[in-house]
Amino acid sequence: APGPNFETIPSTVEAIRSQLPDGLKNPRVGIVCGSGLSGLAASMKEVIEVAYDDIPGFAKSTVPGHRSSLAFGFMGDSQKVPVVAMLGRFHPYEGHSLSTVVYPIRVLAALGIKDIIITNAAGALNPEIKVGTVVVVRDHLALPGLAGMNPLLGPTFSSATPRFLPVSDAYSPALRRLVFLAANELSIPWSDFAEGTYAWVSGPTYETPAEGRFLRAAGADMVGMSTVPEVLAAREAGVGVLVLSLATNMVVIPEKYRSIKEEVEAELLGKKVELPVQEVVSHEEVLFIGRQKGDMMKGLVEKIIDLIPAS
Ligand code: HPA
Repeated sequence: APGPNFETIPSTVEAIRSQLPDGLKNPRVGIVCGSGLSGLAASMKEVIEVAYDDIPGFAKSTVPGHRSSLAFGFMGDSQKVPVVAMLGRFHPYEGHSLSTVVYPIRVLAALGIKDIIITNAAGALNPEIKVGTVVVVRDHLALPGLAGMNPLLGPTFSSATPRFLPVSDAYSPALRRLVFLAANELSIPWSDFAEGTYAWVSGPTYETPAEGRFLRAAGADMVGMSTVPEVLAAREAGVGVLVLSLATNMVVIPEKYRSIKEEVEAELLGKKVELPVQEVVSHEEVLFIGRQKGDMMKGLVEKIIDLIPAS
């Protein structure tokens, strides 16, 4: 895979800024909209959309349910915050290199964002997390990252970037606080929220039962195919990170395997066999929950941005 493409960032930033009015040239907060969550942009004012097709270095997002543009605009009620939202993101499973996946994050950092709110749709591994819950991510498990697929392999972002970036504190406690303060102000039920660890996998396959059990045993509450490369690139660039993971499905982890051996034996003995229902995850249910919870997520993100202290 090609290495980082830091050299082209200034020209990409220039190309984007040339399409923006002065007030939007230096966005303060970045937002990444996950599956079915692109409606987040609807709460922005004076929106200018720049298509990924028109941005040098940006790839095309190929996943159904994802759009493909940067939306610049203002958000907030008590303060007017210039923001930029990524409508659609790039995933390694689409065949993109990790440097392509994180390129937009590096460009957003170069545009001057101080904080980024990253949303995603993810599967719940923790049985106490119900579908529709917003999980405020406080830690991650990057299986590909531990094993050679780390987006920070190669030259560092700048001479100021440490070679060995600490990420034990990647998820800003100050930003996480704002989620709960916003939820309280909006009277969203407290039970709609949880905190947890997000396991990043490359996908595109959903997990087998053994894989789901493995990740759960390793301490993960959620599993998904995005976000972590973006978090690492944002932290490398000194951007504050908040991740909201919407539980769109339970990962299928049956307590007991179906025994074909026992079924056939029973059948041979002339006994009636009760066949278990085999559940599978579908992209449609993931998108459905994303849409169903879209308005809540939109209001929440808007309120969080309103609560971010002006710097
Ligand atoms: N596994 C991995 N990624 C996902 C899932 C899942 O169950 N749901 C949404 N994204």
